[in-house]
Amino acid sequence: MISSVIICYSAHMGNTLKVARVIGEVLRAEIYKPGELDPREAVKKYQLIGLGSGIYYGRHHPSIITFAEKLPEARNRYVFVFSTSGLPKIPVLHNYHKPLITILSRKGFRLVGEFSCRGYNLHGALRLIGGMNKGRPNAEDLERARRFAENILRRLA
Ligand SMILES: Cc1cc2nc3c(=O)[nH]c(=O)nc-3n(C[C@H](O)[C@H](O)[C@H](O)COP(=O)(O)O)c2cc1C
Repeated sequence: MISSVIICYSAHMGNTLKVARVIGEVLRAEIYKPGELDPREAVKKYQLIGLGSGIYYGRHHPSIITFAEKLPEARNRYVFVFSTSGLPKIPVLHNYHKPLITILSRKGFRLVGEFSCRGYNLHGALRLIGGMNKGRPNAEDLERARRFAENILRRLA
């Protein structure tokens, strides 16, 4: 089994942490907040690193971006990126994952997958109308997350 770790920041409603827990269960990966693990240690100890958060103002949480920036270069390490967001990501137009993936690719990490799903959003004025995507991530989203993780395991077996 490949040694894996997940770095997750789930600032708003804990939505992304629900996804991280399912993926972590499949990969048998511990979950850390960005401040809890030294990026250099992460690369030394783990072959596969997952990075995820909610999407805030069009990108991952700054603490996740900073974690990625602090990772040393590594040519023989794998990464995956995940998120929950109010709106779906649209390639080119709305590619929420791009800033993070650009940093990771520049450092030589091999991207083995991306996962995203909708998350309950009570931000700002949305609160007045009961929020958006109530109940998400739901059972179906979490099942998709499980399959995503199983696919990674199969690919890296
Ligand atoms: C401050 C803030 C900014 C947000 N910006 C966006 C955004 O730009 N695009 C989007 O689709 N969702 C946006 N959302 C919705 C969150 O991405 C969504 O609720 C997500 O599931 C939160 O994940 P979390 O509970 O793990 O923090 C925003 C939410 C907050 C609180």
